[in-house]
Amino acid sequence: MQNQLDSSTQASAVRAPQIRLDSVGKSYGGTSVLRDVSLTVEPGEIHGLLGENGAGKSTLLKILGGAIASDAGTVSFNGTPARIGAPRDAIDLGVSLIAQELALVPARSVLENVFLGRWSNTAGFVRSRKDRAQLAALIEESGFDLDLDAPVSSLSLGQAQQVEILKALARGSKVICFDEPTAALGEADTENLLALIRTLAAGGTTIIIVSHFLDEILGIADRITVLRDGNQIITDDAAGYDTEKLVGLMVGRQVEALARTPKPVESGAPVLLSVQGLGNSKISNISLEVRRGEVLGLVGLMGSGRSETLNAIFGGDRISVGEVSVGGQKVRRNSVRAAIRSGIALVPESRKDQGLVLGRSAADNIALPSLHSRQLAGFIRMGTERAVVDEAAERVDIRGRVRQVEVGALSGGNQQKALFAKWLVEPPTVFLIDEPTRGVDIAAKANIHKLILELAERGAAVVVASSELEEVLSLSHRLAVMRQGSIVAEFDRSASPDEIMAAAFL
Ligand SMILES: Nc1ncnc2c1ncn2[C@@H]1O[C@H](COP(=O)(O)OP(=O)(O)OP(=O)(O)O)[C@@H](O)[C@H]1O
Ligand SMILES: [Mg+2]
Repeated sequence: MQNQLDSSTQASAVRAPQIRLDSVGKSYGGTSVLRDVSLTVEPGEIHGLLGENGAGKSTLLKILGGAIASDAGTVSFNGTPARIGAPRDAIDLGVSLIAQELALVPARSVLENVFLGRWSNTAGFVRSRKDRAQLAALIEESGFDLDLDAPVSSLSLGQAQQVEILKALARGSKVICFDEPTAALGEADTENLLALIRTLAAGGTTIIIVSHFLDEILGIADRITVLRDGNQIITDDAAGYDTEKLVGLMVGRQVEALARTPKPVESGAPVLLSVQGLGNSKISNISLEVRRGEVLGLVGLMGSGRSETLNAIFGGDRISVGEVSVGGQKVRRNSVRAAIRSGIALVPESRKDQGLVLGRSAADNIALPSLHSRQLAGFIRMGTERAVVDEAAERVDIRGRVRQVEVGALSGGNQQKALFAKWLVEPPTVFLIDEPTRGVDIAAKANIHKLILELAERGAAVVVASSELEEVLSLSHRLAVMRQGSIVAEFDRSASPDEIMAAAFL
C-alpha cells in the first residue's frame, strides 16, 4: 500500500497547507478552556497533541475542524487568515476531523457513509459509478478489509474508523485531525492505523493526532504540543522527549507510579461472586469464582466476549443457561434490578449509551445510584448530598467547576471519572468494570487503578475487563483468557504477557 495513496488519489489535489495558529482561545460561559495557543504545522507533518483530561485537546481539534468556533486569535492557511465557522468551512479548506465519537450512520452502507451528503439526488439511490470506483480504489490502496455494501452497523470499531478515514480521503482532505483514534482499538488495529498514518504523512497529508498513549505519540510524531489546563506548555520536535518528561509537562507535578500491585487475598476469604455455566448466543459455559478482596482480570481479543460476559453477569444481556450467585445467594436471572439489589455494580464500556445521564451534571450522576439511601420520607438531605458527592468526586479527581457541568459537555476522560465515581458512594459487593481507563490520562489512570485496588481491599470481589493487557496484569490476582465467547485459559499474575497472548490468539 506504500505511497500509492499519493499518486492515484491525490495527484490532482493541492499540497497540504501550512497551518498557523496565533493566540487561539476559547471560553464557555466566561470560563476559558483554551488560551493563547500559537503554533505552526507544516505540510506532511505528524503533530502530536498531548495533555491531561480536560486540557483542551479536543477543543483545539474541534476549532480546526469547524465543530466549534474559537473566540480569540486567528487560524491561517498558507498565510491567509481563515474563518472556520462550520464543518463545511473546514472541509473546503481540506481539513477533516475524526472525532472521539465517530459520526457514521449505522444503518447505511460503507459507500453511502463515505459519500453521505455529497450525492446530488435526495435519497442517494443513484450511486454514481465514479464514486464506487473511487472508493474501491481507495480501499484497495489503503489496505483496508472493507466491503463497500456492508452496513456500518456490522463493522468492528476498527473498521468503522477506517470508514471515517475513507470519508476524509474521498473528500481530498490534506489535513486529518484524529482525536484519540486508538483509544478503543485492539493491538493489531492500532498497528495498522499507525502504519496508515505514516503512509499518509509520507504522501504529504498533514496529521494532527491526540492520544493518551504517550509511546504511540513518541513513536509517530515529528512534533508535539503539550497543553495543560488550556495553556500551551510546549511545542517542540518530538525527538528528545520521553514518556517521563512528557508526563511531567502534562501534569506539572509528580505522578504516582502506575504499577501498584494488589494485596494478597486473605486465606479463607469467602467466594463472593460465583458464576456457573453462563451461556447465551454470544458466550458459552462461562464459570468463574471471585473471592472477597480478589481482582479477576478478563482478557481476550476484541470480540472475544469480555463485555458480553460482564453484561450477562449483570443481567443486562439475557442468558439462556447458567446462574450467578452473590455471597452464596442465587441472583434472579436476566434482571439488572435484582443484580444491583444483590450488590453487583457494572461500570460499562460505553459511557454514552449505558453509563451516564448526559443532560445532568457530573454531581447529579454521581449521586444517582445511591440516592435512595439518603432519602428521608422523600426528602433528600441536601447537606449530606453535597458532602457525599464531593467526596466521591474528590477521590476520582474531578475538580471543582467541572462537577456542575452537564456530563455531555465534559471531556472524554472526565466522563469516565464520573462513571467511576458514582459507584464509590456506596461500594458494591461485586464490582464489574469494563475498560476502566479508556480515554483517561496517565495520571488519572494511576488513580483509577488505585481506587480499584482499594475497593478490593475494602472487601469487594472485582472483575476487570480490558483490552490493555498491561493494565489487567498489574491489577489482577488472576487472569481468565477469553476466546470466541469462552474462557480458554487461566493464569495467575506471575504469567508472562507472551503466554497470555498466545492463549488469546490460538
Ligand atoms: N460545551 C461545553 N460547555 C462547558 N465546558 C465545556 C464544553 N465543552 C468542553 N468544555 C470544557 O472544556 C475543557 C476542555 O475540554 P476538552 O474536551 O478539550 O478536553 P480534552 O483535552 O480533549 O480532554 P480528554 O482527554 O478528557 O478528552 C473541559 O474542562 C471541558 O469540561
Ligand atoms: Mg478529548
